[in-house]
Amino acid sequence: MPKIKFYHRDEVPMEMHKVKIVQKLTLLPARERLAKMREAGFNTFRLHNGDIFMDMLTDSGVNAMSDEMQSAMLRADDAYAGSETFYRMQKKLEEIMGMQYVLPAHQGRACEHIIAQHFVKPGNTVIMNYHVTTSKAHVTRLGGKVEELVKDEGLVTKSTLPFKGNIDMNKVRACVEQEGADNIAYLRLEAGTNLIGGQPISYENMKEATEYAKSKGILTVLDASLLQDNLYFNKTREESLKDKSIREITRMIADLFDVIYFSARKFGFGRGGAIMVREESLYHELEDYITMFEGFLTYGGMSVKEMEALTIGFEETMDLDIISQGPIYIDHCVRALDSCGVPMVTPGGGLGAHINAREFVDHIPSEEYPAGSLVAALYLCGGIRGMERGTLSEERNPDGSERIASVEMVRLAFPRRVFTLSQTEYVIDRVKWLYDHCHMIGGLRFVHEPKSLRFFTGTLKAVSDWPEKLIEAYIADFGEDQ
Ligand SMILES: Cc1ncc(COP(=O)(O)O)c(C=O)c1O
Repeated sequence: MPKIKFYHRDEVPMEMHKVKIVQKLTLLPARERLAKMREAGFNTFRLHNGDIFMDMLTDSGVNAMSDEMQSAMLRADDAYAGSETFYRMQKKLEEIMGMQYVLPAHQGRACEHIIAQHFVKPGNTVIMNYHVTTSKAHVTRLGGKVEELVKDEGLVTKSTLPFKGNIDMNKVRACVEQEGADNIAYLRLEAGTNLIGGQPISYENMKEATEYAKSKGILTVLDASLLQDNLYFNKTREESLKDKSIREITRMIADLFDVIYFSARKFGFGRGGAIMVREESLYHELEDYITMFEGFLTYGGMSVKEMEALTIGFEETMDLDIISQGPIYIDHCVRALDSCGVPMVTPGGGLGAHINAREFVDHIPSEEYPAGSLVAALYLCGGIRGMERGTLSEERNPDGSERIASVEMVRLAFPRRVFTLSQTEYVIDRVKWLYDHCHMIGGLRFVHEPKSLRFFTGTLKAVSDWPEKLIEAYIADFGEDQ
């Protein structure tokens, strides 16, 4: 992306787009936010969007579309079977990824469901650099297990390493030897590893891992949902790729895998998903699942309008100016907070800025969900909705005890092309305030705990009256209407 120079000050993150459509926001008064948080059972997933000022829960399905994407929607070809829109989308994906066979699905977890359903047998292992909640739940539901073999450095929150999403090849070899290659359902590499801070994986590492897997006859699967941020980091942090275009890097990565799937709520700036495969025979093996669970083979649960927009979105993903916006805003936010001592996950990755909750509220025991508590406090103190990514997002061990997450984080997602710099500065300001009052934040405990993916819909309550006290301290500094 072109560096825009400034005359009288240091560089600032610069958008290479202008705003054409806006949505009005409101900031509820502080005490009303407390009431809303209680109603939502201290779970930010349960808040109503109208009660939120800065929605930084996720980038999923909330990235801004371009004018070209919106206008493409008008020419969508409505047809149950054989929609021309699907063929345009398929052609674009083939052009970018070099895979001819595209199976559409309604979102990323639908792809995970189908891949797991087809390949995972009870007792199988799936090797991953790191899991994302739904990718793991689908494997364990079928009696498989997940081995997460990210390099140890990937779990070190403060670091300068450029590719913390890399898989550890020594661990991979040891795992294959121990489990036996026949028992490995597939190797799944996740670009832009979601749960460890949107940290990228290098092309070199993907190449080494997939070559090894192929030598052992193990199927290779890429989760490309967060590929757009990963591509930015491949280009800007990987010396051997600095002269390659984003299109060339994308193709080099895609060529390494047998299967690629993605959530188009992330990849392509729209809503939907798809599985791509290289082999016709595999395509035919998987097509029944699409017609059974998703829809006909030329829409797979997606609206044709979304597919038409995505076709443009995939092309926009090949533009460095466009895919830079997320990472440079995240970098700005992470550096600003890190420089004033807030424990951030560094270096900044894709997807969002990540706070190390284990350090931020080090007085809260893991069993009382430090990241869950911090994310609730952040809504109280600023109307900012982040997402817990820690112990609360794990499922309990079979004996009912808590599975303590290896990293305990709050994610402040930066949906692409959505927030302005002043809104970003507001978030930095409120996080700083909260850090100065971190001792006032207390823990949470479950009231209603669903058995699987409990973080989505579970309800909790505060272990004491800390939310009330925190709100009063906030009002003392900012006033009742803030
Ligand atoms: C890397 C990754 N893969 C898969 C998914 C699941 O996608 P979806 O939310 O569309 O089901 C997500 C969602 O956050 C993700 O981040």
